[in-house]
Amino acid sequence: MSSFKNILQIGYGNFGRHHCTSLLNRYNVFVHDPTVQKFNDGINKVKELKSMEGLYFELVIIAVNANLHLELANIISLLDIKTKDILIEKVPDNQLNKNLSELEKSLLINFPRRYYPFYIKLKEFCKNNIIKSIKVEGGNNSLLCNALHYIDIAEYITDTRFNWIDTELSDVFPARREGFFDGLGTINCSNESLSLAIINRKSNSPHPNEISISFRDGSSIRYIERVGIEENSTKFQFNDQIVINQSELTVHYLTKNLLPRFSQFQRTNSLFLQSLADKVPVNKGRVLIT
Ligand SMILES: NC(=O)c1ccc[n+]([C@@H]2O[C@H](COP(=O)([O-])OP(=O)(O)OC[C@H]3O[C@@H](n4cnc5c(N)ncnc54)[C@H](O)[C@@H]3O)[C@@H](O)[C@H]2O)c1
Repeated sequence: MSSFKNILQIGYGNFGRHHCTSLLNRYNVFVHDPTVQKFNDGINKVKELKSMEGLYFELVIIAVNANLHLELANIISLLDIKTKDILIEKVPDNQLNKNLSELEKSLLINFPRRYYPFYIKLKEFCKNNIIKSIKVEGGNNSLLCNALHYIDIAEYITDTRFNWIDTELSDVFPARREGFFDGLGTINCSNESLSLAIINRKSNSPHPNEISISFRDGSSIRYIERVGIEENSTKFQFNDQIVINQSELTVHYLTKNLLPRFSQFQRTNSLFLQSLADKVPVNKGRVLIT
């Protein structure tokens, strides 16, 4: 075996494959996904998680659907598999009213926007400039699947927490992942100083997300994701068109630690789930979003 450090990944679907792409050149990658027959070259296929007992992993990544994130994290901790951190995907958990164990609270949530140059610079700018409202509107995103990314980035940039989240949906339909749902409509979040609206009215529009940010002094920015700033009446400067490739994000995590622990995000996650509970199908206390 090489001198590379070990990474264990559970789940090799659309997203899990992205993680592996960047990891393979720098780590020994072990992947457990019983439904997958063929893995990329270089991946160590793990039939049983138990066979990993005694090994040390730099990181364990859990990239299955939201119902299973916490369950698998608990399995890892019960087996004698040692790791510095466990990284789970959003949605971190879709169960309503759950008390998390100490282990679950310590899990890291993968919110990659925290690594994007635009948001890093914006957070810096917000040290001296206060955001009043943010509107995210787009057509080619999955509203319920992706809303938490914008909720987290708004909280992160402004160093505040939302205390109210309300969702209005005009349509609810089966998501790409079987057994789960997505919708069209608006998610409104607020606290004493900030409001955020995440809007998706069309399921098939080609437009990328447009972020409109208004500051307390009356200035504003209109930013199109993956395109750049379209309008700007502030002193904020950002000409960088760099978009970090999704597959590079895990490596970013491993080099600079910017991601939140579940303990920091749990209350917001609960508010979000509660805002969906009477609008999206719920099964055994789980809001069926992923
Ligand atoms: N953080 C982000 O930016 C981001 C982006 C996209 C998706 N996600 C999240 O990542 C998760 C995975 O998304 P996806 O698109 O890869 O889903 P997917 O359905 O394509 O893949 C999930 C994989 O998990 C496997 N799996 C299920 N149960 C398992 C188990 N017990 N043990 C091992 N493997 C198991 C399935 O066989 C499947 O291959 C979802 O929760 C999604 O919301 C996060």
